[in-house]
Amino acid sequence: MEPFGIRSRSIRLLIIAMAALVWTAECRRAEEFGQQLWSVGDGAPGGCRAYAADLVQFGGVSDGVTSNTKAFRDAIANLSQYASDGGSMLIVPPGRWLTGPFNLTSHFTLFLQEHAEIVASTDLDEYPVVEPLPSYGRGRDTTGGRYSNFIWGANLTDVIITGENGTIDGQGQFWWDKFHKKELDSTRGYLLELMHSENILISNLTFINSPAWTLHPVYCNNVIISSVTVLAPVDSPNTDGIDPDSCSNVLIENSFIVSGDDCIAIKSGWDEYGIRYGRPSEHILIRGVTCISPDSAVIALGSEMSGGIQDVRAENIVAVNSEAAVRIKTAVGRGGFVRDIFVKGVSLHTMKYVFWITGNYGNHADDHWDPDALPEITRINYSDFFAENVSMVANLQGIEKDAFTDICISNVTAELSAKPKKVLWNCSLVEGVSSYVSPKACDELPENGKPCDYPTIPLPIESVRVGQCG
Ligand SMILES: *[C@@H]1O[C@H](CO)[C@@H](O)[C@H](O)[C@H]1NC(C)=O
Ligand SMILES: *[C@@H]1O[C@H](CO)[C@@H](O)[C@H](O)[C@H]1NC(C)=O
Ligand SMILES: *[C@@H]1O[C@H](CO)[C@@H](O)[C@H](O)[C@H]1NC(C)=O
Ligand SMILES: *[C@@H]1O[C@H](CO)[C@@H](O)[C@H](O)[C@H]1NC(C)=O
Ligand SMILES: *[C@@H]1O[C@H](CO)[C@@H](O)[C@H](O)[C@H]1NC(C)=O
Ligand SMILES: *[C@@H]1O[C@H](CO)[C@@H](O)[C@H](O)[C@H]1NC(C)=O
Ligand SMILES: *[C@@H]1O[C@H](CO)[C@@H](O)[C@H](O)[C@H]1NC(C)=O
Ligand SMILES: *[C@@H]1O[C@H](CO)[C@@H](O)[C@H](O)[C@H]1NC(C)=O
Ligand SMILES: *[C@@H]1O[C@H](CO)[C@@H](O)[C@H](O)[C@H]1NC(C)=O
Repeated sequence: MEPFGIRSRSIRLLIIAMAALVWTAECRRAEEFGQQLWSVGDGAPGGCRAYAADLVQFGGVSDGVTSNTKAFRDAIANLSQYASDGGSMLIVPPGRWLTGPFNLTSHFTLFLQEHAEIVASTDLDEYPVVEPLPSYGRGRDTTGGRYSNFIWGANLTDVIITGENGTIDGQGQFWWDKFHKKELDSTRGYLLELMHSENILISNLTFINSPAWTLHPVYCNNVIISSVTVLAPVDSPNTDGIDPDSCSNVLIENSFIVSGDDCIAIKSGWDEYGIRYGRPSEHILIRGVTCISPDSAVIALGSEMSGGIQDVRAENIVAVNSEAAVRIKTAVGRGGFVRDIFVKGVSLHTMKYVFWITGNYGNHADDHWDPDALPEITRINYSDFFAENVSMVANLQGIEKDAFTDICISNVTAELSAKPKKVLWNCSLVEGVSSYVSPKACDELPENGKPCDYPTIPLPIESVRVGQCG
């Protein structure tokens, strides 16, 4: 491969940090974070990758039939040698590139050109069974391990997965059929997982038909997911869209998700394993997301939340035909917390529950969960919701001896479906306030005439600007 500077290409990416103007604790954090991301393509002028190659140089064949497992692995092995020398980019040209799972590397961009499709192999032998996640203790579908993720990266820094809306196709039907027939002894892998990594950008791509969860950053810091489309049949099992899991500083924006499970699910490990691992998901912003998820939530918090979830904001959310707009799922034994959650500006069409909090989700990793591990659910602020064709406004259930507190719901208009439930607000073991809510909230949330506050200080991740290079 002839290393070449890629400054002249229109596809180069540059991440520019905005300097903080006011010297507050938040702003200082933002600036430091920006400087870290400035190191995208470290060493190359303008923050671009110094080396680029395309898959054909490594023997890739785009007929949709020939295996490119070796081509992808050879390409990334080769390009990884430039990590400390300006970074590298692998270009996937138009065509159908069938491949088994492969791993990414640091200071690296995977770029899918327009009409490029990376298609996951359906040869089970290509997916070795690997260790379960430490914060889960076992696979999510089965005890024991899990099949390899399709595109995977661990212990990486500065990774960009982007393109001109190319497609990554997990060929999930193969896995869903086996899952339904109980033919799998291990848990299904995820379509794209980044683990113990930081400074990640995933943008301008379409992800379809994941075996299970689609995008899964876990134990990561500084993750931006922008302008992606995630599609899976609405009846496919556990095909969550985007699942930040024990991650900090995450931005998810301008994306469209249709899925068979939650569109976005924020998680942090399962029961005693998540409690022991103890890594929360925090400082997360979701904005400009549209979701269709008839049997699940637009935004879910949990059910695996044992490491805690805090400081999550969501704004400018649209959903069509979904089960619930925001759903907190937890149970005795989970431990952890869900607190400082803010959602505002939500437009909903056809919804079973606008607000749903489930304190008895159950679904334990094993029999060793601690009955004294009660989750702390508090400081939840929801405002500015408009919903039409709603069956029930809210179903809010806390836990005995563990009431969920400081819940504030304001400026909500829910227009009812032709056959709404008799009880529109079903609340127990929850405490808080409401204001300007129609139909009127339950007695547990008395009217207090004040809108629910939404934070005014931006999150550090909001100060990062993503643009094109050169
Ligand atoms: C891989 O990298 C080396 C430089 O170490 C280069 O000489 C070689 O051509 C590359 N291989 C391919 C297939 O591009
Ligand atoms: C990918 O990385 C994971 C995590 O480090 C590792 O377990 C797996 O063997 C790697 N797979 C390949 C194909 O290198
Ligand atoms: C990756 O990072 C985790 C957490 O810091 C560490 O436990 C693990 O050993 C690292 N793995 C490798 C292969 O470096
Ligand atoms: C990207 O492709 C998907 C799937 O074909 C399509 O739904 C989406 O609108 C495209 N996005 C853009 C920005 O063109
Ligand atoms: C109430 O929410 C709607 C969106 O549903 C918004 O347009 C309106 O500005 C909000 N009203 C106030 C007083 O914030
Ligand atoms: C309203 O919701 C019901 C389900 O409760 C659904 O069957 C119906 O199609 C929806 N109507 C419209 C106009 O979307
Ligand atoms: C209301 O919640 C209780 C649990 O507290 C449940 O038993 C009941 O079925 C719920 N009612 C409706 C209409 O959802
Ligand atoms: C939620 O809004 C209420 C009412 O404005 C406010 O008192 C409370 O501090 C807000 N919660 C948080 C965690 O900011
Ligand atoms: C996405 O693509 C658009 C159009 O090519 C480009 O302007 C934008 O910078 C890209 N965004 C990211 C985050 O890659």
